[in-house]
Amino acid sequence: MTTPSPVSSTPALDRIWRRGKEFLGSELPVMCGAMTWISDPQLVSLMSNLGAFGVLAAGNMPPELFAQYVDDTRARTSRPFAGNVITIAPNYLAHLDILCERRVGHIVFAGSIPRASEVQKAKDSGAKVLCFASTGSIAARMIDYGADALILEGSEAGGHIGHVSTVVLLQEILFNFPSVPIFVAGGIATGKLIAHLVLMGAAGAQMGTRFVMAEECAAHPRFKDVFIRARAREAISTPQYSAKLPVVSVRALNNHAMEHFGELQLQLLEKLRLGEVNRQDAQFKVEEYWVGSLRRAAVDGDVEEGSLMAGQSVGLVNRVQPLREILEEVVFDADQALAEVRRRLDA
Ligand SMILES: Cc1cc2nc3c(=O)[nH]c(=O)nc-3n(C[C@H](O)[C@H](O)[C@H](O)COP(=O)(O)O)c2cc1C
Repeated sequence: MTTPSPVSSTPALDRIWRRGKEFLGSELPVMCGAMTWISDPQLVSLMSNLGAFGVLAAGNMPPELFAQYVDDTRARTSRPFAGNVITIAPNYLAHLDILCERRVGHIVFAGSIPRASEVQKAKDSGAKVLCFASTGSIAARMIDYGADALILEGSEAGGHIGHVSTVVLLQEILFNFPSVPIFVAGGIATGKLIAHLVLMGAAGAQMGTRFVMAEECAAHPRFKDVFIRARAREAISTPQYSAKLPVVSVRALNNHAMEHFGELQLQLLEKLRLGEVNRQDAQFKVEEYWVGSLRRAAVDGDVEEGSLMAGQSVGLVNRVQPLREILEEVVFDADQALAEVRRRLDA
């Protein structure tokens, strides 16, 4: 297996994105967010080999399989990558153990808020810890727990989301927590925006939807085809019908799976009312629905009945490209944006 050479940055960009590069140990401060069923060893290792930063998704995987994924990724790249663990997944603690035992260099906590002891455990293994922040108070708490960096993710993002948009979070989090590197996610599809975010103080960015369009990404061709045609406004978020069944919103393209999810929530609420299920089991059923449903679309290609998780940035992607080309475009656009800013400042 020959390892591809990394995509080069430019001297101007290197000056502004040093903090993110140093934190990640990559050539570009561009993370490919973990995507359950999609972020496999091939995509993650290629991302890192090409100079960006891959993140392996633990999702709801059996622990042995996740351990194999970590080993397989390591066999394919000597560059840094992260493991992403979902705190509400049944195998979460086993996933965390695997990353700590194997001394994976970066650990991303996703899902809900990790315990301080879990963050500490990751740090004790030598890993750098990244935590999602979808409000200012969560950002403060994660820094207090010892997070080494934050992923500020706005509600434009694909998959499970918070309630607040990226633009508001930039002001609430990015401008107020200079002590740790902050990677911005949600709605980003261009190098131009990444350059502007870094000028605002971000360490770098994380994208998901744009990377689904990589030729080398294993998502089913029908999944990618829908992304090509979709408009931003078709990536909608799910509602919560009652506080009795708290659910994390999911942003996905509207199809039968979104309707079925509404029906599932109503059925579960009725079962809760009748005492046929408890709240924890009902919430577990909700998560199980998404994991199975995403697999149906992204792996099996059933784009009607499966979940088409996508960010609003889906409206900005319109073709499948080799990953190298995507990253080269990101660097080119970011560099152009920087030159444009300089021209404006000098005018
Ligand atoms: C299909 C899909 C699956 C995702 N799965 C996960 C996941 O397993 N864990 C996680 O932390 N984030 C997950 N995300 C969120 C991404 O990692 C990333 O933060 C998000 O896509 C950024 O927004 P964007 O889609 O506008 O680029 C997923 C996103 C998509 C589109």
